[in-house]
Amino acid sequence: MRLNLIISFLTCLVFAQAATLPKDEKVRYDNHVVYKIKYSNALQRQLILKLVERHQSFSLWSETATELDLMVSPNAIEEFKKQLSIANTTAEIFIPNVQALIDTETVENTRAAESFGWTRYNTLAEIEAWLDEIFIIYPAVTEEIIIGQSYEGRTIRGIKVSYKEGNPGVFIESNIHAREWITSATATWFINELLSSDDELIREIAENYDWYIVPVLNVDGFAYTHEKDRLWRKTRQPISTSSCIGTDPNRNFDVHWMENGGASSNPCAEDYGGPNPYSEPEIKAMSDYLNSVSSKVNVLLAFHSYSQLLLSPYGHTPDEFPDNYNDLLQVAKAYADAVEALPYGTVYRYGSAASVLYTASGATNDYAYQQGIEIAYTVEMRDRGAFGFVLPPAFIIPNAEETLVGIIALLSECEKLG
Ligand code: ARG
Ligand code: ZN
Repeated sequence: MRLNLIISFLTCLVFAQAATLPKDEKVRYDNHVVYKIKYSNALQRQLILKLVERHQSFSLWSETATELDLMVSPNAIEEFKKQLSIANTTAEIFIPNVQALIDTETVENTRAAESFGWTRYNTLAEIEAWLDEIFIIYPAVTEEIIIGQSYEGRTIRGIKVSYKEGNPGVFIESNIHAREWITSATATWFINELLSSDDELIREIAENYDWYIVPVLNVDGFAYTHEKDRLWRKTRQPISTSSCIGTDPNRNFDVHWMENGGASSNPCAEDYGGPNPYSEPEIKAMSDYLNSVSSKVNVLLAFHSYSQLLLSPYGHTPDEFPDNYNDLLQVAKAYADAVEALPYGTVYRYGSAASVLYTASGATNDYAYQQGIEIAYTVEMRDRGAFGFVLPPAFIIPNAEETLVGIIALLSECEKLG
């Protein structure tokens, strides 16, 4: 009882803070701490997740089968420590002050001289201006693709790269989650490599596949992370029944939607599945576009961060596996091995989303798989929580290089399949 009182008091504080935020000011995360909590049983996990559900002072950053990364606001740290001891578990501080990381990133983003590049993170306007240049420089092999319109009326744009007729297609979706900036930075770097590299292996994949790449799918959310709140994840469409805004777009596809607790029905939750499948115009548009090309697409990769994982279907249950699950494991292994063999030595783990992580339904790769795209992964890029979503720009190129090498290995492994 007393605990509930404390919790609702804290909740009020947070809402009061948000309500008085001046119009042109950004959400701040001063002294917000990210802890990594190792848990060994379902009860411990549940106790921690209950906190996240109940109040906004806790925000789940990442979850695997053995660890939870949790951001805790300074006013809730005592409460958090109490809960840890009740759950009989411990936590390690990974990020002592999230705002300090954001501030450093902002400085680095404004210091870099060039108008677009991979030594800093670019805004949506910068990415679009760069895409426009790309279409002008490479008119013979590129084509703009229009996925559709966002809730706030932005056009969701992508690029098709095709050097010849009849190539098998590879679809890359990126930045469906707004705060996962490393994904669009990597996707744009990858586009640039496809078009401009002389490397033989890169030329081979560039010219022998048709590439459909959407660098920023959640355009409204992405703009919001640059303008207002660096850690926004969802879309920006209001919910008629709630004062909370946004739906988790990666829970909004019509594929086992909301089944098995694979998404939250609470509009304030980070994994809110929406009032109905395709409630989000971005996701309706993405599914329509994907349907229009799915017969030409063999592989789909959905770029996310962070945790360094390759997640295949299914997301809706850990107890069933796709018919070609062995192939999916074999191909994921090829990707992971290739990445680990690089000097960076980055380790990726792989498996079905629900068995490696948690039940999550309505995700892009599960939808793609349902539509007949048999090789479909969620790629969770760097890192493992040292910086989390606020990965410094110095890691853009290393992360992009290993993604490229992983994709080359993935495609060559696919060619070996029957
Ligand atoms: N971190 C991602 C998310 O929460 C992973 C989703 C993977 N699940 C899946 N069904 N593909 O959206
Ligand atoms: Zn994500």
